[in-house]
Amino acid sequence: PAAISVRQLSQTIRQNPIEVIKQLMRNGLMANINEVIDYEAAARIAADFGIEARPQTVRAATKRKKPEHEETKNLPLRPPVVTIMGHVDHGKTRLLDAIRQTHVMESEAGGITQHIGAYQVEVKGQKITFLDTPGHEAFTAMRARGARSTDITVLVVAADDGIMPQTLEAIDHARAAGVPIVVAINKIDKPTANPDRVKQQLADHGLVVEDWGGDTIAVGTSAKERKGIDDLLENLLLVAEMEDLHADPNAPATGVVIEAEMDKSRGAMATVLVQNGSLKIGDTIVVGDTFGKVKAMFSDQGKHLRKADPSTPVAILGLPSVPGVGDSFSAVESERQARQIISERTVKKPATVSLASLHDQIAAGKVKE
Ligand code: GTP
Ligand code: MG
Repeated sequence: PAAISVRQLSQTIRQNPIEVIKQLMRNGLMANINEVIDYEAAARIAADFGIEARPQTVRAATKRKKPEHEETKNLPLRPPVVTIMGHVDHGKTRLLDAIRQTHVMESEAGGITQHIGAYQVEVKGQKITFLDTPGHEAFTAMRARGARSTDITVLVVAADDGIMPQTLEAIDHARAAGVPIVVAINKIDKPTANPDRVKQQLADHGLVVEDWGGDTIAVGTSAKERKGIDDLLENLLLVAEMEDLHADPNAPATGVVIEAEMDKSRGAMATVLVQNGSLKIGDTIVVGDTFGKVKAMFSDQGKHLRKADPSTPVAILGLPSVPGVGDSFSAVESERQARQIISERTVKKPATVSLASLHDQIAAGKVKE
């Protein structure tokens, strides 16, 4: 059995597993870290990282490619994807509502008016995508799958309550994912609000706000009175600019499932975030262990879309079953390719073999490029 797990491959070529998984996705292969891929694919991925699969050894790069950032530098900018996190009842949903009400893009009646758990707003001509993740579960699921779906975390802390257990959890999640944190000190309208206490608590946990000489951006907000919203959004744009986010709108679409459900009349419906490439009507996409053709796409405004650019959240119809939240998807060339990818992934799962076997294969000249 010619196979290697993604983890083994990452270790062998000394690359971050997340980068390896991304590269696999670019090659139309979706696999998690424990999944097993064949040696040919492994060698191809190794080559993508500038690592030649040489006899007896799959060793670190001599002619390593430039880091991803360099490669994507000339691609167009994409909107930041922002996740709102924080303790229960601190005002995440209300804050999102306030943002949406003040900055929603022109709405157009369309096929569906259903709420989707993600939306885009436009601020000074620039788009920002917000993910309305219920609790931390979706975020964790996505992180676990190596899909870094969030560019910026807005940490909502109620100014009266201060930092609570889920606030700390959110900080941990954001840190683990390497995602910058912007703090919204919310409910400043309340008489019991004590923003300074929140700042002290933040500092105690390593987040020193700017007016205290640190580099954590914190904005006072009242979701209720819609105060501080513009300030928050402008800061998000600023952070996004520093993050320098690019994507290739001409690539086949890849992304992640944010929400999914079975709709009685329309069948399986999934809200997906397009992370790279553009998703188009008629695209065949592989999600989890199924595939389907995108029959219809709707924006967060319920507007029919023919095409969804990078960082756009869209509801799609056409999948044969409800995919898992956090599942990656990728557009493929044909149904045949979709079937092939799925069968490879389902059949080869159990067979994890030693690296020695890979070395033998390479030595025998069976694996190269
Ligand atoms: P969960 O989704 O349950 O974790 O809560 P959440 O963080 O989404 O909080 P939500 O937006 O539902 O707000 C909780 C309560 O706080 C609601 O009664 C809101 O009306 C209230 N609230 C939210 N923001 C503000 C604010 O800025 N000021 C005041 N006074 N109340 C607020
Ligand atoms: Mg909520």
